[in-house]
Amino acid sequence: MPVKYILAAMALLTGSAMAQNLPPGYAGSDTCAGCHEEVSKAFKANAHVRVDQKSRFKMENLACESCHGPGQEHVESGGDKTKIRLLKEAGRIEVNENCLKCHATSPSMRGHQIGQHYRASLSCTDCHSVHSAKGRKLINAANSTDQCSSCHTAARAQFNRPFRHRLQEGSIGCVDCHQPHGERPPVHLQRLAANNEPGCFRCHSDKRGPFPFEHAPVRLEPCSSCHEPHGSANPRMLNRHTVQQQCLECHAGTLNTMGGAPPAFHDLRSARFQNCTTCHQKIHGSYVSKGLLR
Ligand code: HEC
Ligand code: HEC
Ligand code: HEC
Ligand code: HEC
Ligand code: HEC
Ligand code: HEC
Ligand code: HEC
Ligand code: HEC
Ligand code: HEC
Ligand code: HEC
Repeated sequence: MPVKYILAAMALLTGSAMAQNLPPGYAGSDTCAGCHEEVSKAFKANAHVRVDQKSRFKMENLACESCHGPGQEHVESGGDKTKIRLLKEAGRIEVNENCLKCHATSPSMRGHQIGQHYRASLSCTDCHSVHSAKGRKLINAANSTDQCSSCHTAARAQFNRPFRHRLQEGSIGCVDCHQPHGERPPVHLQRLAANNEPGCFRCHSDKRGPFPFEHAPVRLEPCSSCHEPHGSANPRMLNRHTVQQQCLECHAGTLNTMGGAPPAFHDLRSARFQNCTTCHQKIHGSYVSKGLLR
């Protein structure tokens, strides 16, 4: 062991930890700084420095050890790696438990236990890095959309289709629609608007109503029963190539579809009736027309 570490250890322990009345086994963050200068300096810009500074967490000067565990033995041994918790190599469950010790009650963690990421055994450090984050919120990538795309290449590729939200241009990101930690109900980790409504209403509030004349599927089905939220080959991001096909999926009047067939005056072979929404303009719900005409 290099002599400089032994000297440092002695000086630091007498000068700091012992004088500060820390819990037994702990060395204190300023002791760590004596040998891990670079990490500690960078840590001043980390949100977790608040653990050191704010008395409300009851862990003043213990931020480093709140994650790495009590470090006195590590210090006394001059930096023995087996005497400190190395989160880099720790198992996923151990990492998650450690982080959740403090974050289980964070608002964004409400649904994490039923979210697909937690259930697929992702660990917090698959997406977050404490000391070498590249983006805000300690994200491992430059931004959260890049982060998601690194694993979900297929979902990302759907945004290359002709009709889509402007993800590439930065006006929307994956986390505008998804809650990375999970949400209730946990369908596709979707972010919800208030009152458990689809998150789409956060931006498309004109579709919320309430409308005296509702279109049943808009109220009762997810928006994705007609739209492909990641992008589509079809105008207006519809699931079907033409509006008519989209409508007749339900309005064919057969027993296994939900809506009734259009009244007889609809001549579906005539060009006039091809684009149903030229007449049924208020397809998401109307304030005045039962037939969703205006
Ligand atoms: C919020 C939890 C957390 C806190 C607080 C924390 N660390 Fe870490 N530390 C980690 C994790 C996780 C890793 C694994 C690498 C990573 O994710 O950046 C790590 C890795 C390290 C490493 C290995 C080198 C490296 O960069 O990979 C050192 C050294 C270290 N931490 C020292 C410290 C010191 C010193 C402090 C206090 C100033 C501290 N840590 C505070 C979680 C934490
Ligand atoms: C007396 C000097 C000294 C002090 C004080 C010290 N360390 Fe270390 N630490 C070392 C040395 C030396 C290593 C081994 C570096 C290596 O082998 O690459 C090390 C390694 C580590 C590692 C593993 C890094 C890796 O590469 O995986 C972590 C994590 C760590 N220290 C955290 C802490 C924390 C937290 C504190 C404060 C409680 C602390 N250290 C205080 C000297 C010290
Ligand atoms: C000792 C308690 C504690 C532990 C353990 C802890 N955190 Fe934190 N974390 C905090 C506090 C405090 C904040 C600052 C936010 C606040 O003031 O509420 C924070 C903030 C964050 C933020 C937001 C950062 C930002 O820039 O806004 C992320 C992300 C985070 N923690 C992830 C983690 C991860 C991942 C782990 C496990 C490796 C972890 N935390 C372990 C207490 C903790
Ligand atoms: C699949 C990737 C992923 C995983 C796994 C993950 N996070 Fe996050 N986390 C994110 C992203 C992305 C954000 C930023 C969200 C945003 O900008 O709205 C975030 C934000 C946060 C925040 C800040 C919340 C806020 O609203 O400021 C905390 C705290 C946090 N994560 C803690 C954790 C903890 C603890 C774990 C492990 C139990 C974890 N995260 C697992 C991707 C992830
Ligand atoms: C480290 C790789 C990884 C990262 C990064 C990641 N995910 Fe995942 N994601 C997974 C795994 C694994 C699953 C569960 C298996 C599956 O369904 O594909 C999953 C599941 C999902 C699901 C549910 C899929 C379904 O079929 O219901 C959604 C939605 C999702 N992730 C969105 C995101 C978003 C948004 C981000 C960025 C904040 C993100 N993911 C980041 C690996 C990742
Ligand atoms: C405009 C809102 C929106 C945006 C932006 C968005 N998603 Fe989705 N995503 C959804 C909805 C809604 C579903 C459910 C679709 C369904 O029910 O068929 C979904 C489903 C998923 C699924 C599971 C089904 C599948 O297609 O594999 C994954 C994974 C996913 N999204 C990842 C992502 C990633 C990664 C990004 C960013 C590149 C992203 N999403 C951006 C709304 C969005
Ligand atoms: C963060 C805000 C935001 C969220 C959340 C959002 N959108 Fe959008 N949406 C927009 C904006 C802005 C446009 C205008 C088109 C553009 O980006 O140029 C748009 C356009 C659309 C269009 C019309 C596309 C066209 O070709 O005219 C459809 C359909 C759509 N969104 C459906 C949805 C659905 C379904 C959801 C939920 C799964 C959703 N949006 C969530 C912001 C959002
Ligand atoms: C029954 C099928 C259906 C459902 C369900 C549906 N839409 Fe649409 N939507 C359409 C059709 C058809 C159009 C194209 C209208 C046109 O041709 O002008 C459209 C167009 C849009 C547009 C672009 C034009 C405009 O009116 O702003 C947005 C945005 C949109 N829908 C959002 C949503 C959202 C958000 C939801 C869920 C609350 C939703 N849609 C549910 C059928 C549907
Ligand atoms: C996902 C299935 C579905 C799709 C797609 C769909 N509808 Fe409907 N529609 C329904 C249901 C269910 C009702 C209400 C049941 C009923 O009274 O027949 C309804 C009712 C209507 C009504 C009558 C409103 C009322 O309450 O009397 C009109 C008009 C209508 N739809 C037009 C359209 C048009 C135009 C399209 C294509 C843009 C379309 N629908 C797409 C399921 C659907
Ligand atoms: C030229 C205008 C026009 C076009 C195009 C059109 N409709 Fe209609 N549709 C009407 C009118 C007018 C009514 C009667 C509305 C009423 O009674 O309030 C109606 C009624 C309906 C009804 C029954 C509503 C009820 O109140 O029971 C359905 C279902 C319907 N249309 C579906 C469609 C579908 C599907 C298409 C496309 C294939 C379509 N319509 C195209 C004008 C049109």
